[in-house]
Amino acid sequence: MHAALAAAAELLRTARRVVALSGAGVSAESGIPTFRDAQTGLWARYRAEELATPEAFARDPALVWSWYAWRRALVARAEPNPAHHAMAALQRQLPHFTLVTQNVDGLHRRAGSTDVLELHGDITRVRCSAEGRIIRDYEEPAEGQGPPPCPTCGAPLRPDVVWFGEPLPLATLHRASAEAGRCQVLLSVGTSALVYPAAGLIPLAERAGATVVVVNPDPAAAPPGALYLAGAAGELLPRLVAAAWPEAAG
Ligand code: OAD
Repeated sequence: MHAALAAAAELLRTARRVVALSGAGVSAESGIPTFRDAQTGLWARYRAEELATPEAFARDPALVWSWYAWRRALVARAEPNPAHHAMAALQRQLPHFTLVTQNVDGLHRRAGSTDVLELHGDITRVRCSAEGRIIRDYEEPAEGQGPPPCPTCGAPLRPDVVWFGEPLPLATLHRASAEAGRCQVLLSVGTSALVYPAAGLIPLAERAGATVVVVNPDPAAAPPGALYLAGAAGELLPRLVAAAWPEAAG
């Protein structure tokens, strides 16, 4: 591992442009379950794919709203972990660093990362399901009451996240693709790289000549030819940053 970590650190230190793609694994050490982990507690009998869809919301808006209210409360209690802070440190050290996240928990921003490309939206934001406008002043309904109505048009409010089958925010995806197509290092952290188009950023970077560095306890997340660092993001990312910039290590 030491040799791979040293090689990855050297790549980061000498790269002109770096793109990081983060997934749920980065927030696992903040206590937020990943998608491929079985759902816990009262949600154990559901899969994310059954709840995070426009069809599920149309069929049972109260159930979907409750799930997101539960996840929002989980996120509100969570704190950024050393992986999130290491990502913010990468942005400070590198001249051209783009952080693309599939996560909707906002923890990268809370750790100090700026200009984060949130491909799947943000669970703490709520929008009108008809007009699309972000709504800030709404009353959280009592459990089981279902989504509150839009104060303007009365349509049900919904989480401002991308559901299965929905398009990603186009401008964000285009920016992420453009940066992936011209980076020297694509750092994939805590993602199973199974869900497209987000996962497509990895082969896109590879085809453009970038080296893919993968941080994940599961080797299945690393494509052939990637520089694979086996382990938890909260442990490996800070070590990677310290190895690349020992002078900056706190
Ligand atoms: P997944 O749950 O698919 O994958 C989580 C990844 O994190 C797995 O590869 C784990 O091995 C890894 N992992 C777990 N703990 C880790 C740790 N401490 N450090 C580093 N890695 C760890 O989550 P995503 O890849 O983010 O999409 O899933 C991508 C998308 O699929 C999500 O954004 C969501 C989901 O459906 C939508 O909701 C549209």
